[in-house]
Amino acid sequence: MIELADAQSILERCDALGAISEEPDRLTRRFATPAMRAANAAVAGWMRDAGMTVRQDSIGNLIGRYEAREAGAKTLLLGSHLDTVRDAGKYDGPLGVLVALALVERLHARDVRLPFALEVVAFADEEGLRYHTSYLGSQVLAGTFDPRDLSRRDEDGIAMGEAIRAFGGDPAAIDRDKRDPDTVLAYCEVHIEQGPVLERRELPVGVVSVIMGQSRCDIAFAGQAGHAGTVPMDLRHDALCAAAEFALAVEGLARREAGLVATVGRLAVEPGASNVIPGRAAFSLDVRHLDDVARDTACRDLHNTAEGIGARRGVSVEWRPVQESATVGCSPALGAALSRAIEALGYAALSLPSGAGHDAVVMSTLTPVAMLFVRCKGGVSHNPAEAVAVEDVAVALDVMDTFLANLVDSYNLAVDFR
Ligand code: HGY
Ligand code: MN
Ligand code: MN
Repeated sequence: MIELADAQSILERCDALGAISEEPDRLTRRFATPAMRAANAAVAGWMRDAGMTVRQDSIGNLIGRYEAREAGAKTLLLGSHLDTVRDAGKYDGPLGVLVALALVERLHARDVRLPFALEVVAFADEEGLRYHTSYLGSQVLAGTFDPRDLSRRDEDGIAMGEAIRAFGGDPAAIDRDKRDPDTVLAYCEVHIEQGPVLERRELPVGVVSVIMGQSRCDIAFAGQAGHAGTVPMDLRHDALCAAAEFALAVEGLARREAGLVATVGRLAVEPGASNVIPGRAAFSLDVRHLDDVARDTACRDLHNTAEGIGARRGVSVEWRPVQESATVGCSPALGAALSRAIEALGYAALSLPSGAGHDAVVMSTLTPVAMLFVRCKGGVSHNPAEAVAVEDVAVALDVMDTFLANLVDSYNLAVDFR
């Protein structure tokens, strides 16, 4: 019989965070905004109540620390992100933070210390909504943050460096927050699956094997704005029509190529009036494949396609790669420890790849990583309809509890998880 009270409390906290938004009628919580500040304040309070010391680092990651039994021990990092996409669900990110927090609460309630310290990290930016570049929070801990990103501007013209300072952070101190890999044991993240596999297999949780690589580009077609009533159709250089043709070509390629997914998810048309031929269409491209070579080939094909459309339609093409991450493997040893924990609770341990990106991608450059997926309703995410069952969250919490116990044994035997 699974105990549901802790899981119920996690879901109530997801509801509370889900109400902290930049927009009145939908959940949107971007990096370094007042909504983010309020979310951090709520989580910081829960962390303190769980016996953790709490700090906010130079970029705005919130970190709660639960000390080890003895000084000088390594630290196990647990967590996920508190930023969201636009019109988000309540669980993508916060669930992983709050499951980690609940694990520490259980230890604190029993007055138990482990041989390693625990840190619950609530990353400040994983989705990249505000500055169109993701993983800002984990990049700081991993030491891979690119200072050139500080001059990126959001849609209101606010530079990232300025936003960080207004949030109470310090761009000049970012280097100092890089973690020393010798002091870190591993990074483990609980996350909703965001896909349908666990639901189809009727399993509450699963172990992530690899996280799919992704490429993101900012692209624009620049044509010629003109009068919608007077310019004949054969004399137009309509930037939006070029973008529309390109978006369909993206869909076509991804449908033809096994394992490829590709998306145009953001589009801005200028000048943007019903009686003006679009002069400029700026849009995003997101390309993913488990095979890095196949992803790279797809990006090159799509770039050629864009140039071809531009040449034929007399519009110029701007193509700016924004971010790229290779497919990342989770630690087999940590995955095996998670699998043993799942089996100990009487469930089959399914291993599955992640099509979504996670902070674990960046953290893998610092330390071995593991991820536990929790079944979500219909596999739906990046959508307010995201839902998880309290019973599944309870299983995830118990799995992580047993996993921690497994790690204590391994730690005492000085097992290397790489
Ligand atoms: O886009 C992603 O894969 C993640 O949800 N940030
Ligand atoms: Mn997401
Ligand atoms: Mn996420």
